[in-house]
Amino acid sequence: MQIGIIGTGRIASGVGRRLINAGHTVFLGSRDLSKAQGAAQAIGAQGGSQAEAVSFGEIIILAVPFGSVADVVAALPGLKGKIVIETANDLQGGNPLSSTERIQALLPEAKVIKAFNHVFAQIIADEMTQRTTAFIAGDDKAAKAIIKPIIESIGFDVVDVGGAKEALHLDNLVRFLIHLGYGLGMGTDIAVKLVKV
Ligand SMILES: NC(=O)c1ccc[n+]([C@@H]2O[C@H](COP(=O)([O-])OP(=O)(O)OC[C@H]3O[C@@H](n4cnc5c(N)ncnc54)[C@H](OP(=O)(O)O)[C@@H]3O)[C@@H](O)[C@H]2O)c1
Repeated sequence: MQIGIIGTGRIASGVGRRLINAGHTVFLGSRDLSKAQGAAQAIGAQGGSQAEAVSFGEIIILAVPFGSVADVVAALPGLKGKIVIETANDLQGGNPLSSTERIQALLPEAKVIKAFNHVFAQIIADEMTQRTTAFIAGDDKAAKAIIKPIIESIGFDVVDVGGAKEALHLDNLVRFLIHLGYGLGMGTDIAVKLVKV
């Protein structure tokens, strides 16, 4: 599948590399063309502007800071109608709406699905010694059915936790994992694996 990624940082490059290894084609979109080309070359992707990444992608991954999502999506009218995987963490917390509900409100005509927000960048960048869980959430069931096998193809077992409202659990999960990883010093090579016993 053709996947456009907005961002050239740790999540964009890590997920991009995994997608390419799984046989997808990836275009990294940046605010800075030379940065896009450097990051893309490093993982075997194509690189260019954010708008080019949006036109390239059948699916778009937003891998930018939560605080910049509103400005980034406002400048990308091509997102209308597309499946948009958002990876963002609003680390401030305290909002009764999930981060995904708020991003979906910014993009009413896109199919917004949250994924990867609880997977530390280090896990995505490194070889994983075992499959771990990737929780997803979003209102569009057909979009989730399309992205599930793609996320499975890059080493995760996908668990759909529900609609955009339920993404609040994923916002909270990140705060818990940050507590474990940084607060308790367990590091960022920890991940969640849901098991049925
Ligand atoms: N780090 C983690 O462990 C982790 C784990 C899960 C989820 N996340 C989430 O994933 C998203 C990306 O995180 P990351 O760790 O990949 O961050 P990062 O390394 O700082 O990269 C963020 C990218 O966003 C792009 N960007 C576009 N507009 C921006 C703006 N106005 N200000 C700053 N950057 C802008 C930048 O690309 P250009 O400069 O090329 O435009 C930058 O490379 C965030 O929402 C984060 O909460 C992070």
